[in-house]
Amino acid sequence: EKGGYDHFMLKEIHEQPSAIFDTFRGRLLSDKGIIKMSGVEDNMKRFLNADRIIIVACGTSWHAGLVAEYIFEDLARIPVEVEYASEFRYRNPVIYEKDVVIAISQSGETADTLAAIKLAKSKGAFVFGVCNVVGSTIARETDAGAYTHAGPEIGVASTKAFTTQITVLTLIALRLARAKGTISSSDYRLQLLELELIPDKVKKALESDDLVKSIAAIYKDAPNMLYLGRGFNFPVALEGALKLKEISYIHAEGYPAAEMKHGPIALIDENMPIIVIATKKGHYEKVVSNIQEIKSRKGKIIGIVTEGDEQVRALADHVIEVPESLESLSPLLTTIPLQLLSYHIALMLGRNVDQPRNLAKAVTVE
Ligand code: M6R
Repeated sequence: EKGGYDHFMLKEIHEQPSAIFDTFRGRLLSDKGIIKMSGVEDNMKRFLNADRIIIVACGTSWHAGLVAEYIFEDLARIPVEVEYASEFRYRNPVIYEKDVVIAISQSGETADTLAAIKLAKSKGAFVFGVCNVVGSTIARETDAGAYTHAGPEIGVASTKAFTTQITVLTLIALRLARAKGTISSSDYRLQLLELELIPDKVKKALESDDLVKSIAAIYKDAPNMLYLGRGFNFPVALEGALKLKEISYIHAEGYPAAEMKHGPIALIDENMPIIVIATKKGHYEKVVSNIQEIKSRKGKIIGIVTEGDEQVRALADHVIEVPESLESLSPLLTTIPLQLLSYHIALMLGRNVDQPRNLAKAVTVE
């Protein structure tokens, strides 16, 4: 049932190339240059009429929502707010009938997300679901939606659900961008072609497994870790830290790299491992200067870099390469070594990787 892998989590990490492929199969028709998603197509008027999109979710799905915020705003020029469902539902939020609310949930059963959906519906907003589990409560309660088609995710730590959620949300953003005319036809085509290459590039990123394992062995006893990223990769830093916390029980924090000097930099000394996502294009020079600041305080640097990178390699204690891609698609690649890192550390510490203490796969109560 684990397909030859020791744990569901590892199996699901390795399933990502095919899971992402399944997510865009039949939807991304690059030869025709079109994206076909009936849930979006049938409700195009609602999407185009909206002055903003509100995304509600929890945990890893909330992180996918944050990545989507960057993608929607960049490509489709629609303002996006990303809300923790648990805060949104109790905040007496301002919701307009013209709003489009996107609820993201792997299980489709998360209580807070469901309550946020009901609230948005009662105010007349159009609610769109991005779920993995077919026929789940959230899939049924939303006005329309798109499944991620990632296949069953058993490990409590979400992995392939995250990358397939980002894939679906990218497809939606691109479709809307095309409809709104906020993307040129050449950029649009490039995005489609690059998205199609992602499954192979994820496969390539998975080849870092042995290297990641050796890095895990060095840092497994650290009491704390920091994860830094900027732009599209800021939410990936949050997700990397969450993965480590939930399965290894090591305290970790994710930050936008530039926020470091507003506080967390005080934590840095020779005992602090810092994972920095420093891919090319994504404010690369700025991240390099953040790395220099860490180095002068003797922090241990693990850089997630683009293949062939030299600048970060010269500064960092370790680098893990991922293939080059468009900046907006890079989270699908940079996430991979972070998932592997938390997996190997948790395993080395003897943790229950698939069923970490105190956690449930679906949080169906408040
Ligand atoms: O099923 P959902 O996507 O609604 O679940 C949301 C969170 O409970 C979930 O992502 C949780 O944070 C995971 N354990 C993260 O790995």
